[in-house]
Amino acid sequence: MSVLVVGSVNADLTVRAGRIPAPGETVLGGDATVSPGGKGANQAVAAALAGAKVALCGAVGQDAFREAALRGLTRAGVGLDHLHTLAAPTGLALITVSPEGENAITVASGANAHVTSDHLPQKWEGFTHLLLQGELPPGVTREAARRAHAAGLTVVLNAAPAREPDPGLLAHTHHLIVNEHELAVLAGGAGEETARSLLERGPGAVTVTLGSQGSLTVTPDATHRLPAHRVTPVDTTGAGDTFCGVLVAWLAEGQALPEALQAATVAAALACTRPGAQDAVPGRAEIGAALAHAR
Ligand code: RIB
Repeated sequence: MSVLVVGSVNADLTVRAGRIPAPGETVLGGDATVSPGGKGANQAVAAALAGAKVALCGAVGQDAFREAALRGLTRAGVGLDHLHTLAAPTGLALITVSPEGENAITVASGANAHVTSDHLPQKWEGFTHLLLQGELPPGVTREAARRAHAAGLTVVLNAAPAREPDPGLLAHTHHLIVNEHELAVLAGGAGEETARSLLERGPGAVTVTLGSQGSLTVTPDATHRLPAHRVTPVDTTGAGDTFCGVLVAWLAEGQALPEALQAATVAAALACTRPGAQDAVPGRAEIGAALAHAR
C-alpha cells in the first residue's frame, strides 16, 4: 500500500514573537530558524513516519533554501523520483509564532507555482492513495485527482489554504479534509449539516478539524465526533498536515476510519508540543504509545 503526495515543498523561516503583528505593526522576535515545511512535504513526512511507503511529486529550486526544504523528506525516507528542480526559487514560508503556539504564515510559492500537469507521474499503478492540498496551481491538483481517480486510487484532499470551491476537483475526491475556516469558504457555513452538504459534491467522507474541539467526520451513513487529545501547545505549525498524513497512512494500511481518525488526532496533538512543522511530526512508536495511554 503506497501513498503519493502531489504538493508543495517549502523552507519555513520562523520567528517566535510576543504576539503576531497586526497590519502596519512591527514586533521584535527571537532568533529565526530555517526548517523544512510546505503542506505537501509536511504531509508526506507525517505519512512516512507513521509507517506508510510514500513518494512526493512537486518542485524546488536550485538555491540556498533547497537543502533545508528537502531535509525532512530525505530523513523520513520519502521517495523523490517525482521531485523536479525548476528555474525558480524554492518555496519559502514566513512564519510568526505566538507564545500560545498560534501562527501567521505568508507563503512565497516559488517553484511550487511552476508545477504543471507535465510534472505528474506517467504511471499510477504503484500507488493506492493520492494526498493533495491547495498550495500547487489548482489545475495541476485537479488533473492529479482526475488521473488518480481514473486509475483507481483513493483521493484525499486537504483543501488548505482556503480557496473557492473547485467542482472538478471535488468530483474526484473521496475524502475531503478542511478546518472550520476552509469549510466556510467552500460551503458557506459551519457544523455537521454544512459538512454533510459537501457529500453531494463528490466526496464520500468529509472531515472538519476543529482545533481544541477535536474533529467531525461525516459519511453518507455515519457521523464521527472525536475530542481533541489534550496537550499544551508550543507551536501549532503543521499540526493539520500531521493529521492528514497520519490519517492517510492508517487508511492505506487498511485500518478502519474511526481508528485512522483516532491516530491522526493524537498525532496532530503531539505535533503541537514541539517547534517546527516536519521537525515536530511524531513517529509510529510515539503515536502508538500515546494511543495506548489515551485508551
Ligand atoms: O501547514 C503548515 C505549512 O504551511 C508550513 O510548513 C508552511 O510551509 C506552509 O506551507
